[in-house]
Amino acid sequence: MLQIKSINTYYGDSHILQGVDLHIPVGKAVGLLGRNGMGKTTLIRTLMGYVPTASGQVDWHRRNVTGSTPERMARLGIGYVPEGRGIFPNLSVRENLIMSARPGVNGRQDWTYDRVLSTFPRLKERLEHGGQQLSGGEQQMVAIGRALMTNPELMILDEATEGLAPLIVQEIWRVIGEIRRTGISTLIVDRNYKAVLNNTDSAVVMEKGRIVMAGESSELAHSSDALKRFLGV
Ligand SMILES: Nc1ncnc2c1ncn2[C@@H]1O[C@H](COP(=O)(O)OP(=O)(O)OP(=O)(O)O)[C@@H](O)[C@H]1O
Ligand SMILES: [Mg+2]
Repeated sequence: MLQIKSINTYYGDSHILQGVDLHIPVGKAVGLLGRNGMGKTTLIRTLMGYVPTASGQVDWHRRNVTGSTPERMARLGIGYVPEGRGIFPNLSVRENLIMSARPGVNGRQDWTYDRVLSTFPRLKERLEHGGQQLSGGEQQMVAIGRALMTNPELMILDEATEGLAPLIVQEIWRVIGEIRRTGISTLIVDRNYKAVLNNTDSAVVMEKGRIVMAGESSELAHSSDALKRFLGV
């Protein structure tokens, strides 16, 4: 479904992504692992069109979409929950969710306002709260809920559990499971590599802008020496 081929990305003179390939098959969950600063967010920002790619190609359903704007990528069916959440602080929870609502590209409407609220019951009690009045966990729920309201084919979650209390983290992983069960593909970045491997079909490890390991998540879970080396865990 999403195929990234030999992507090279620079920030100024720094060569950040150095020939990255990544494939996300329809309906599959893919984990993206790597220590701080290895290029995970840059890869996501490149494929979403926030950062221009110097060379390489992004294909979506076998169509070349390299260089598309983030708006176009979203319209094509990619829901993106960025690091640091990015909800609208001046809008209420209700407004944040409603303004994102639309059927999926394929006409699917699995994720409605009501379904998002029953998935995150905590938000029901805070519908009129503004973004600033929410806890970090609640903001993350709104961010995920907003992406779901677009009925995406692919959800990208960059550090969705960062800085959240253990119970909320559990809650987020539960929702990621539910997202997978509705057939949405996922690309998941998270510091907890065990949780990533438990919740994905396959995974890749990035080091200094390159993919240095890739495989089925269940198999990678047994390569603990290599994981320790690359992840510093
Ligand atoms: N806007 C930017 N301008 C210049 N350099 C940047 C910018 N954003 C990131 N970098 C650099 O690019 C490299 C990759 O950063 P990136 O954010 O992609 O890493 P990451 O794997 O997502 O790390 P983290 O786990 O900390 O989120 C780092 O060396 C970082 O310092
Ligand atoms: Mg990052």
